[in-house]
Amino acid sequence: MSAILFGRSVSLLLHLACWSSCQAQLVPAIFSFGDSLADPGNNNYIPSLSKANFPHNGVDFPAGPTGRFTNGRTTVDLLGEFLGFKYYLPPYLAPSTKGSAILNGVNYASGSAGILNSSGYLFIGRNPMDLQLAQFANTSAEIKQILGVEAGEKLLSQALYWVNMGSNDFLDNYFAPFSPIGNLSSEQVNALVLGTYEQQLTRLYSMGARRFGVAAVGPLGCIPFELTYTLAVNGTCDQTVNTQIQSFNVGLEALVNQLSSQLSGAQFTFLDAYTIVDTIIQNPSDYGFTIVDIGCCGIGGEYRGALPCTPLATMCDERTNYVFWDPYHPTDKANIIIADRFYYGNTTFARPINVFELVTMQL
Ligand SMILES: *[C@@H]1O[C@H](CO)[C@@H](O)[C@H](O)[C@H]1NC(C)=O
Ligand SMILES: *[C@@H]1O[C@H](CO)[C@@H](O)[C@H](O)[C@H]1NC(C)=O
Ligand SMILES: *[C@@H]1O[C@H](CO)[C@@H](O)[C@H](O)[C@H]1NC(C)=O
Ligand SMILES: *[C@@H]1O[C@H](CO)[C@@H](O)[C@H](O)[C@H]1NC(C)=O
Ligand SMILES: *[C@@H]1O[C@H](CO)[C@@H](O)[C@H](O)[C@H]1NC(C)=O
Repeated sequence: MSAILFGRSVSLLLHLACWSSCQAQLVPAIFSFGDSLADPGNNNYIPSLSKANFPHNGVDFPAGPTGRFTNGRTTVDLLGEFLGFKYYLPPYLAPSTKGSAILNGVNYASGSAGILNSSGYLFIGRNPMDLQLAQFANTSAEIKQILGVEAGEKLLSQALYWVNMGSNDFLDNYFAPFSPIGNLSSEQVNALVLGTYEQQLTRLYSMGARRFGVAAVGPLGCIPFELTYTLAVNGTCDQTVNTQIQSFNVGLEALVNQLSSQLSGAQFTFLDAYTIVDTIIQNPSDYGFTIVDIGCCGIGGEYRGALPCTPLATMCDERTNYVFWDPYHPTDKANIIIADRFYYGNTTFARPINVFELVTMQL
């Protein structure tokens, strides 16, 4: 407990001290699993309708359009910066992601992927969570081959496991046309998705993971896509969708706590993306935003929320005024706030501990 309190009080100071000169990484590696909120370009390598490796995506990213579904950095890119990483995690599917390039971690996230294999079916190609875990098994074997079994296992046990999944099990499955799970009740779909997630997170533990940051699903009823699709008036969020996501998140937090107590030597923490994004949307001026309902880059209707950001789409002038980059994803500026609350936040945003505490606590 004292370590936790210590972490909270010094974290901001440490961050400021490290901003320009700190060399040390707080963890040897990060392994990132997720969907388009975390994809650094895996979908560039598969036949998929879910892609972002063209303008105006990446307009504020040093390397330009990389396949990231935002104008700048994703939250896991930013978490890496906070943790002292000098490079962003490479996409698993990039041919150069091998040898020493994997020793600081790998990012398996894939646009339109979900916890369920079926999620994202309208987008054709995507790497669902079970496939991302199979890909991690390859990385794990390669790391042990490079470092030797003992050092490899040590690296894997000290690493941060970032898991940002679930949006597409609702947005691009349960609430989408022709969904194979569309006839399930609200409770049944939560039980199915959470039961599958439990098996997956337990499998990750059995492969050597110990420090898990698990992100909640955000308020999907408020994204420009939903506002457009439901013909929302004055940006009113879709309460059916938000109520479903809130009940899913309650179950997810309970799962995270259950796994922390069941799996010996492991610590899971729940990063409340819902509360963070909802707080920003309710109080935009506190965070320096003026527009919470329109995507900066997109096509269609009042909210530019029908079609994603492409070279043909309209792009806003002042990107820093916008919470949403496109019909679905936050801007770089919103991601900075989200990642900050994940990393340094109090229990309103990160429970039972934040990411800084997760990586510095004794296990
Ligand atoms: C998803 O597909 C993979 C590969 O076909 C399979 O091994 C896995 O069991 C499936 N997962 C679920 C939850 O059905
Ligand atoms: C794991 O590596 C083998 C050998 O390179 C490859 O054939 C296989 O497709 C990989 N599995 C995944 C899930 O990427
Ligand atoms: C939903 O439909 C599937 C087949 O498409 C069926 O197996 C399942 O029992 C149905 N579930 C409910 C709750 O009706
Ligand atoms: C939407 O906002 C406008 C301008 O503030 C207002 O006049 C109108 O009544 C609002 N409509 C609804 C349905 O709230
Ligand atoms: C967490 O911090 C926010 C301000 O960023 C504050 O409004 C909230 O009350 C705090 N929550 C707790 C549990 O201390």
